[in-house]
Amino acid sequence: MHASLVALVSTVAAAAAAAPGYSHGSSSSSLTAAARDTPYAEWLATHFAESCSPGGCFASFNISAPAGYVAGAPAFDVICHLVYARQDWRDCDNSGVQGAAGGSRVQSMKTDASRRGLVRISVAHIWTSLEDGRQRDNASGFAEVDAGWSVFSVPVTMLSAVL
Ligand SMILES: *[C@@H]1O[C@H](CO)[C@@H](O)[C@H](O)[C@H]1NC(C)=O
Ligand SMILES: *[C@@H]1O[C@H](CO)[C@@H](O)[C@H](O)[C@H]1NC(C)=O
Repeated sequence: MHASLVALVSTVAAAAAAAPGYSHGSSSSSLTAAARDTPYAEWLATHFAESCSPGGCFASFNISAPAGYVAGAPAFDVICHLVYARQDWRDCDNSGVQGAAGGSRVQSMKTDASRRGLVRISVAHIWTSLEDGRQRDNASGFAEVDAGWSVFSVPVTMLSAVL
């Protein structure tokens, strides 16, 4: 456990040092963040369904990942709901399915896609990795999805750790 956390942190730090956009935190917290073109992992989303009415569009999907998709990550299996008019992070629903393990949480957000007819769906999984609760990890990525699809995958391209 401890060794894998050290490995995760050093992997993030090494990747971050080489990546553009690497930022150091303030004196009160340190941040390592690494973005990659080659994903760390892929999350599978199923049951994607969009519904639009004069009041606006809504969508929901299931998304899951096994424990350890990156070192130290807990498993999750949740249902996310998007309100297209509100382009901010919203907590996914832990009830009904297995939920997010280890006190972690999953959030999703809809924003404008790079072209018409697609929806950009971002997903973030946030968990605490040090036993004293000091380090918060955040794995995230996004997919551009056609409303007709029911299944899509989200490449995890961003990993950050805040101590
Ligand atoms: C997917 O989500 C639906 C609700 O939208 C839920 O009823 C169902 O159990 C979930 N299925 C799986 C395989 O997670
Ligand atoms: C997780 O990372 C994403 C991508 O960098 C960011 O937009 C989001 O605000 C982060 N969430 C939390 C809770 O830190």
